Amino acid sequence: MPNIHLQGIHLNIDGIKDFITDDEMKSMEKEVFKAHDKLANKNGKGKDMLGWMDLPSNRDEDEILRIKECAKRIRNQSDVFVVIGIGGSYLGARAIIDLFSDNFSNLVSYSKRKHPQIIFAGNNLSGKYLRNLIEYLEDKDFSINVISKSGKTLEPAVAFRTLRLVLEQKYGVRGASDRIYVTTDKEKGILHDIAVKNEYETFVIPDNVGGRYSVLTPVGLLPMAVANIEIEDVLDGAQFASYLYNEKSIETNDCYIYALVRNILYRKGIDIELLASYEPSFKYFIEWYKQLFGESEGKDGKGIFPAGVNFTTDLHSMGQLIQDGRRNMFETVINVVKDRSFITLPELEEDEDLLNYLAGEDIDYINKQAFMGTVEAHVEGGVPNMILNIDDINEYNVGQLIVFFEKACAISGYILGVNPFNQPGVENYKTNMMKLLRKEK
Ligand code: PA5
Repeated sequence: MPNIHLQGIHLNIDGIKDFITDDEMKSMEKEVFKAHDKLANKNGKGKDMLGWMDLPSNRDEDEILRIKECAKRIRNQSDVFVVIGIGGSYLGARAIIDLFSDNFSNLVSYSKRKHPQIIFAGNNLSGKYLRNLIEYLEDKDFSINVISKSGKTLEPAVAFRTLRLVLEQKYGVRGASDRIYVTTDKEKGILHDIAVKNEYETFVIPDNVGGRYSVLTPVGLLPMAVANIEIEDVLDGAQFASYLYNEKSIETNDCYIYALVRNILYRKGIDIELLASYEPSFKYFIEWYKQLFGESEGKDGKGIFPAGVNFTTDLHSMGQLIQDGRRNMFETVINVVKDRSFITLPELEEDEDLLNYLAGEDIDYINKQAFMGTVEAHVEGGVPNMILNIDDINEYNVGQLIVFFEKACAISGYILGVNPFNQPGVENYKTNMMKLLRKEK
């Protein structure tokens, strides 16, 4: 195993000390260990869906090679790469790509970006969105990666049918088939059958990995590789974290500490978690976390409501409520530790805006002061706070971050007493929608 010093994620729980006693922490040990044993022995609820735990170590080297080759082909053949999928079949890829991208990535030139524009589709049923996308693609070379485990989800199916036709009209049936990449079940489903019939390049989502735990399968790895992210380094970080967060301890295992703190607060009626970041590029990481925890824990009348805030932006919309509203929420802040210097505030001879007292300061330094001041204010205002420090944004640390949340979610869900690996409630809206669409009585 890699050296312990490579740990890139550290949890700080100073901000919960006013809300949780050491005895309360200690009293959770048995429950955490029980959850740990269920995962380790693979005998808890949803035990057939634990494949995500082995993804970082059980790598299929041939598949990784094929992913990288396809990514290269996609980069060469496309101005735009359209990733079609919804929920777990797109959020992970989008989250990680955003973390590594220029904030204006899709607006800069290919030569600066060094990969196609990456556009996500099939994650809504908006006709406007699809029409606008088709018009945008009209004069561009593009390829498609359609991702669906079940192979029958309506949103991606509608987008794929429509965009596949556009692709075929542009390049012919044969030409289009060289630009369609399918990620789905290994042997069943409509999408699987379409892929086989048309000889599309296909990647498999393993049976025992659920959508929201699939970011380290080709679901996430192919789009990441197209964006020039070093996927083997992400997997290395994830492998290290799988080892690190398997320690049966509530003293040193940050992942277990996070899971148990969530549950103690929940039992005190503090049942909303705000995942916050001060970096706009974390927006979709927060969306990924919301799906992971929302679908995993929200069932059987239970669940911590996972919400997200982007600071400092949302301090000017949600700040009042967080500081001063009903005391039913706690906050987990992702903080990028490394001092980064992108831009400093210029000094002006005439200090018209009275900002010269900050002249020469890094904008990121100013952001950090906002972060520290806000944490202090929120804790004082009655909002328990945890800080998840990530040393820097690199592939190895991001791999750790993914496993931190996946494992914490599984442990937290078991402590809560639910099956963290099913999503029976998602079917209800689909059934009603299909009734309406097929006009069934
Ligand atoms: O986590 C999940 O299982 C869901 O969010 C799915 O990923 C989502 O519903 C998409 O399903 P599918 O990949 O079958 O199209």
